[in-house]
Amino acid sequence: MKGSLAFAGAMSHAPGIAAFRDAASKEQASSFFSACDTMRQKLMASNPDVIVVIAPDHFSNFFIDNMPASCVTLNAAYHGPVEKWLGVSELTVAGMPDLGRAILDQSYKDGIESAFSEEVMLEHSVIIPLSLLTPSYDVPIVWIMQNCQVPPLMSLERCYAFGRSIRQAIDNSGLRVAIIGSGGLSHAPGAPELQTLKPDFDRHFLSLLEKDNRHELLSIPDATLDDAGFGSWEIRLWITALGVAHERKARTLAYEAIVPWDTGCGIAIYE
Ligand SMILES: [Fe+2]
Repeated sequence: MKGSLAFAGAMSHAPGIAAFRDAASKEQASSFFSACDTMRQKLMASNPDVIVVIAPDHFSNFFIDNMPASCVTLNAAYHGPVEKWLGVSELTVAGMPDLGRAILDQSYKDGIESAFSEEVMLEHSVIIPLSLLTPSYDVPIVWIMQNCQVPPLMSLERCYAFGRSIRQAIDNSGLRVAIIGSGGLSHAPGAPELQTLKPDFDRHFLSLLEKDNRHELLSIPDATLDDAGFGSWEIRLWITALGVAHERKARTLAYEAIVPWDTGCGIAIYE
């Protein structure tokens, strides 16, 4: 049965957005949260049956003893957050394992053999976007985890191809599916060699997205990402989401380099 991509977007997921929300200046916080509000309204207006969240895991479920490149999670229900300090109350969101399984099966057909898990806990990478976009947590989700923490990481081209494969599964699902890429932009929390954000990199990345310059986007050198801080490795989630929404163009709703949140915070929709 035919399905459809009801909504697509991407955003940053800095824990400070919830944990130390008031540390940001009023101007920057207002710019970011008003963009989140716009995204929330567009997402809800799209009336999705399910939200696929493409997000990394910050050692909440996977560590270097067993680190998959990607993992399609198949929880019947998701609980979290793992981080008790996040400032978000414990919550449960329904899963949609049948869709997760369909995404997994399609990715195997397309030569991308993701790991899978039926028992992951939610952490800030998923909960920050949900808390801003579906604060009642009343839309089922499927979390697709991509390793953005410990190299080797999937290439940007591979992320895009993974997105195309996810889209094929969505198109065959009979469901109205929203997707959110969650990660980036420049940051390197705790890294002694980089204590500043790189707004020039962030704005360049967002401009490539808006210009739809896929060749340059998919060719961003690893060294450029390293220079923007290891947190910028998470632009992979934006690229995977772009692969899902491959016929659409990105529009930036807001960008703020928010030092108290330790993150270049971007938010964009693919329309
Ligand atoms: Fe992150």
